Amino acid sequence: MSGNESKFSSELVAKVNELWKRYPHKKAALIPAMHLIQAERDGWFSDETVADTAALFGLPDMHVRGVVGFYDMFHSEPVGRHVVRLCKTLSCKLRGADGLIQHVNERYGVKNGETTQDGCFTFKHFECLGHCANAPMMLVDDEKHLDLTADKLDSVLGGLS
Ligand code: FES
Repeated sequence: MSGNESKFSSELVAKVNELWKRYPHKKAALIPAMHLIQAERDGWFSDETVADTAALFGLPDMHVRGVVGFYDMFHSEPVGRHVVRLCKTLSCKLRGADGLIQHVNERYGVKNGETTQDGCFTFKHFECLGHCANAPMMLVDDEKHLDLTADKLDSVLGGLS
């Protein structure tokens, strides 16, 4: 597909074309492409973005909508400038994740899925992020923060702009 046929930037279409070369079927590249698309479209999938993605891949809108709904890494609502994910699975829970979640709720005024009033970050509870040996852990956008304490968390979140 050429850039003229897509509603996405020519840079994004070029990257998706590169992805397609790596997979036996275009559909197999949908998830990595959706990460690029989400980043280009302000961090979430509006109905329009779902439709544009479906058109790019020649899929029904419902297929793309299903992927957005299934994977926590994709968002179907607008998000803040950053996304903060705090793991609440067993190892993190045993090492204080519940207290950290409560700390975020109280200090920053956001519960699971909510965005701070200033739009700085969206807070999300998350399942195991694969760093159980360094629990509790948090992911801020793509950056991992391990062996988390309330002080560490505040220093990371306080540095977000
Ligand atoms: Fe939190 Fe595995 S349980 S990273």
